[in-house]
Amino acid sequence: MSGKFIVFEGCEGVGKSTQLRLLKDYLTESGQPAVFTREPGGTPVAEAVRNLILDKSYEISPVVEAYLFATARADHVRQVIMPALRRGELVVCDRFLSSSYAYQGYARGLGFEMIKQINAAALEDCKPDCTIFIDMDPAISWRKQNGKTITDDRIENESVEFHGKVYEGYKRLAEADPTFVSVAPLPEKSATHRLILEALKKRGLIR
Ligand code: TYD
Repeated sequence: MSGKFIVFEGCEGVGKSTQLRLLKDYLTESGQPAVFTREPGGTPVAEAVRNLILDKSYEISPVVEAYLFATARADHVRQVIMPALRRGELVVCDRFLSSSYAYQGYARGLGFEMIKQINAAALEDCKPDCTIFIDMDPAISWRKQNGKTITDDRIENESVEFHGKVYEGYKRLAEADPTFVSVAPLPEKSATHRLILEALKKRGLIR
């Protein structure tokens, strides 16, 4: 596999999308082509599964939720991520397996082992070279949103306590996985962006 795989992770409302956009602009301006994609989604089938997962009109049990994310991932890995990595390209993905560990494994209580098992066949040995974890407690980012409704998707709508658990789950993953880079957001978005560039350059993933 000659390509490189970078994943962005973090709780809702921590500025992940802004940082992804800044990275995309930087890579475009510096002539470094990359495939930007997201989970759940990235292919027509995975986007259809995404709509199903996030639809508030369904009640979905934690184990079924984990399978649905893995289903979307299996298609995304086969149709988009692995082909690009085989062509030697740089792939940047908004969320990946670690979201399943943090949300379904930790916050929903399925446990990390079950997430590993459910995703084993979906992954085809596909593993990020680096995971940029935007390290911000959602209790803070939620206050920052000023009580404004963020969206009405099923998972984002969970309680502050649930999102606190997601954060705890991420912290555990970050401690255990040497390919995780925790980036605590600075008040200036551009300063956070520079921290991310530095981390990726140091690992030889971008120039
Ligand atoms: P999205 O709108 O993409 O959220 P964000 O902009 O915060 O990335 O919705 C994806 C939601 O799905 C988000 O709440 C995180 C959740 N999720 C899981 O629970 N497990 C997973 O494996 C993935 C990929 C996402």
